[in-house]
Amino acid sequence: RTVSLIGAPTDIGAGHRGASMGPEALRVARLGERLGARGLQVIDRGNLQGPLNPWLPPENGYRHLSEVAVWNMAVHTAVRQELQAGRVPILLGGDHSLAIGSISAVADHCRDQNRKLRVLWLDAHADFNTAEATPSGNIHGMPVACLCGNGPAELTGIGNHAPSTSPHVFRQVGIRSVDEGEKRLVREAGMEVYDMRHIDEVGMKRTMEEALADVDENTHLHISFDVDFLDPSIAPGVGTTVRGGPTYREAQLCMEMIADTGRLASLDIVELNPAYDKRNQTAKLAVDLVESLFGKSTLIR
Ligand code: ARG
Ligand code: MN
Ligand code: MN
Ligand code: MN
Repeated sequence: RTVSLIGAPTDIGAGHRGASMGPEALRVARLGERLGARGLQVIDRGNLQGPLNPWLPPENGYRHLSEVAVWNMAVHTAVRQELQAGRVPILLGGDHSLAIGSISAVADHCRDQNRKLRVLWLDAHADFNTAEATPSGNIHGMPVACLCGNGPAELTGIGNHAPSTSPHVFRQVGIRSVDEGEKRLVREAGMEVYDMRHIDEVGMKRTMEEALADVDENTHLHISFDVDFLDPSIAPGVGTTVRGGPTYREAQLCMEMIADTGRLASLDIVELNPAYDKRNQTAKLAVDLVESLFGKSTLIR
């Protein structure tokens, strides 16, 4: 298998500066080398380019909408190209607004190939806000809504098909911070959310069995890994920490169970923010977990 690293060095959709340094931090933590050591072919496509962050307040409920759209079109094109070449694209974010570009590309690819799409959204947040519901205007809180057609045309229209996908494609895991208006939207959409309460009650093992239940041979499994999914005690290097996330072992089990399906076909690693990190520890942890996602195990097999 060949994986392609695609850097998108921007914090255009976030409320804190610094996720733009994520791609380099992951490279410094030797993401490419570690995957290479697992026997994967690794191509580093370098970084995409896009507009600088003008750091302006929201307008009509959206902050930096035109710049977010430009970045996402670049991500869409790059991810689509790697998928068409039969490779596994790994988006190195960048903030989580970039999932609009990456998952719209994956959804288009699945439509062409007649494959079933399943997205595992590993995050502290549901990212299902709209201009009306958002407390911040930050578009990194809106990508799932945009992908499901609930958002501005500049973002919902990215790719060949609007909407790109629908709420039933998503399984959200690790959720523990959802805004009031956003909660209602999540409920109305009927999205399957395995929040921290659920993980506390039934454990990570059963949670992942449920989240992966109908993944079959024809499924394209996309993982959107927002690093703030992890408990901030082990992953301080993110802008929007929320306490009470998965522990190191829970996160490992989550990644290992995804690997066991053999269906992982694309990945986002987003929201890593080196400005909040210490000695690149969060990037190193993310790399460690991504190795597990690609099959590293403590067992000899
Ligand atoms: N719900 C908050 C908002 O919409 C926080 C979103 C955080 N999203 C993220 N990808 N870190 O502003
Ligand atoms: Mn599809
Ligand atoms: Mn998040
Ligand atoms: Mn997120």
